[in-house]
Parts: sequence; structure tokens; C-alpha cells
Amino acid sequence: MKTILVTGGAGYIGSLTTIELLIANYEVVVLDNLSNSSPEALRRVQNISGEELAFYKADLLDRPALESIFKAHKFDAVIHFAGLKAVGESVQEPVRYYHNNVTGSLTLFSVMAEYEVRNIVFSSSATVYGDPDSVPVNEEASLRPTNPYGWTKLMIEQILRDQHVADPDWNAILLRYFNPVGAHPSGELGESPRGAPNNLMPYLAQVAVGRRPNLQIYGNDYDTPDGTGVRDYIHVSDLAKGHLAALRRLKQGGGVEAFNLGTGRGYSVMEMVKAFEKASGKEIPYNVVARRSGDIATSFADPTKAHRDLNWEAEKGLDEMCVDLWRWQSKYPEGLQ
Ligand code: NAD
Ligand code: UFG
Repeated sequence: MKTILVTGGAGYIGSLTTIELLIANYEVVVLDNLSNSSPEALRRVQNISGEELAFYKADLLDRPALESIFKAHKFDAVIHFAGLKAVGESVQEPVRYYHNNVTGSLTLFSVMAEYEVRNIVFSSSATVYGDPDSVPVNEEASLRPTNPYGWTKLMIEQILRDQHVADPDWNAILLRYFNPVGAHPSGELGESPRGAPNNLMPYLAQVAVGRRPNLQIYGNDYDTPDGTGVRDYIHVSDLAKGHLAALRRLKQGGGVEAFNLGTGRGYSVMEMVKAFEKASGKEIPYNVVARRSGDIATSFADPTKAHRDLNWEAEKGLDEMCVDLWRWQSKYPEGLQ
């Protein structure tokens, strides 16, 4: 495994993973249509790592563009991050989500098959579990997404399973991320959402830096210790390293395997507010509003399988997640332009 195609490599998780790949001496080619990212991210990736990468501004749906990239490089594997990821938006615009994520992935897989690239790491999500029957959630739990975004992830997982049946030379690692947060420890690169953030931590950070007046907490009447929702927040640098562990696993073959990437520990919204106040030294004004439609009370991972088979484990704790997020947010209050 030497040359890797990273789709969506200009995005939040893709850019942080590309840093780790370059530091580990992989050759990286990034494909991104920049629909939710900036080329400045890739400039910073190169500055931080001290290495160069090749970049193509291209859309997954543009088959001729994909073919010319596969013609120009001999890839050993693909890490497939590219996709749309806003849950609420996917409910409003299901066709756009299915087309971009599923048709886009099908186009990619078809070009991979044509050029005999049969190893892939796919960005799946804990959202494939929907509302789990019990926590911690392991990989054997029922799969029943509750929104179109989640369905796109499950459909792509299934397509890769079927492809392996049709051609056993295909190997795929399906990484089911829990809640990625934080930023690169340098403070130079982090999440830079366009418009109002959908997720808790970027929203909290924008309140702390004065871009937004207050946080709205979506419900404090859940069946959790303090009534607010509980999630498994994982530092994005730990998550990035999980992709390198997945590439090592792919090298051994193994067909299609799913892994949870989480810490195994859940924190409530209130605990996150307190931790971020401590890290930033800022008070976070908040008010409690109605539950957000589609939210669940509690979700956190059983990460045992990733530890056992990928030899990977999250190392960074809550304080580091908050300190790194705050370093990035306070240095670049407007994110990447
Ligand atoms: P992101 O939006 O920052 O990155 C995705 C990148 O893909 C963006 O740079 C975007 O421009 C690009 N892209 C989208 N559609 C494309 C297309 N058709 N062609 C080419 N490029 C395209 O998101 P992220 O948080 O870095 O997420 C990366 C992956 O991880 C996504 O697949 C997402 O669904 C998945 N994931 C994210 C989370 C999370 O909370 N951030 C949780 C679970 C899974
Ligand atoms: N929350 C608030 N206020 C906000 C935003 C969120 O109270 O402004 C609460 C939510 O109700 C929830 C918790 O904070 O209890 C976390 O919400 P996020 O939106 O940050 O994360 P979710 O768990 O809802 O979903 C995220 C991604 C999904 C991904 C999933 C994986 O958005 O794409 O994690 O677990 F699939």
C-alpha cells in the first residue's frame, strides 16, 4: 500500500487523515469537488506535514474525470470520504443525497473495478444503527437508519458487501464513526462548517468565540443521568489514525469488515458544555428547547473489535478534544475562507 486516492480529502476528516497519511509516507491523491470545503485546507495539510500531495477538483459523479485520475495514477487503495452529511438536509432533499452519495459511490466503484483497484476504506457512520436497543453498540447490532443520510451509508455498505461476493478480490473496511470532534493540535486545521453548524461541538465553539449568541440544548427530558443526550465524542486525530490502521488491515485481505470507531465512553450535552467552558475559559450561554426531531437519548460505541483486529484505540480524552477545538476556533473564528 503506497499510493492512496482520498475522495473528500479537502473536508474535515479527510484533511486530517491526509496529514497522517503523508506523515506515514503514503503518496496521496485527493479528489474533491469543494462543495463543502476549501482548497486552503489542502495548502495547510501540506504545510503541517511538510509533504506534497496531488489534488484534482472533480466530482464523484463525473465518470470521465474519475477515469482520467485513475489513468494518471496507479492506486493501491481508496479512502472514500466524499459525500453529503447533514442529516436534516437529507430529510429535506433525499434525492440529492441518494444521488450524490449512492450514485457517486457507484460511479467510483465502477471506475475502481475498471482499473482493478479493489481495496477501499469507507466512511460509514454510527447513524446506521438508528436508535440502538442497548449500549454500548457493537457491530452486530441491528442496522436501521432513521433518515436518508443514514440509508445512503447503509446502502453503500451493502453495495461493497455484494461486490465482494461477486469478486472476492475486493476488500472493504467499513468504518462506523461515532461523533468526530476537535481539530489538529496545531490549531491550523479543523471543522469549518458552511452556514450555521448542525452539530453540537462546532456550534458550542462558535458561541464561545462570539459568532452566535447562545447554544440551544435540544431537550433535557431524556432518560439519561442529566436529561440531555449522550454521545461518544472522538478526537478527529484519533479517527484519522483509525484509517491508517484500516489500510494495514486491508493489506491482509479479509473481505468486507465493519468497525466502530469511538472511545466507548458517552458524555451528555451538559457535560460537553462544562468541558468546553473549562477549555475555553468562556461562559457558554444556553437555553433548553424542544427535542430535535430524529434525535435519540444515548449512543456510544463498543470499540472492542477495532482494538482487537485493527490494533487501534482512541487515545485522546475529552479535555484534549475541547482544548484543540478551542485553539483552532479562537485562532480562526471564521474558519477557512
Ligand atoms: P466534509 O463535508 O467536511 O467532507 C466531505 C468532503 O466531500 C467535502 O470536502 C466535500 O466537498 C466533498 N464532496 C461531497 N460530495 C462530493 C462529490 N460528489 N464529489 C467530490 N467531492 C464531494 O465532511 P466530514 O465531516 O469530513 O465527513 C467525511 C465523511 O465521513 C462523510 O462521508 C461523512 O458522511 C462521514 N461521517 C462524518 C461524520 C461527522 O460527524 N463529521 C460522522 C460519521 C460519518
Ligand atoms: N445538540 C444540541 N444542540 C445543538 C446541536 C446538538 O443540544 O445545537 C445535541 C443533540 O440533541 C445530541 C448531541 O447534541 O444530543 C449531539 O448532536 P450532534 O448533532 O453533534 O450529533 P448527532 O449524534 O446527532 O449526529 C452526528 C452526525 C451524524 C453521525 C452521528 C454518528 O451529525 O452524521 O453523529 O453518531 F451519523
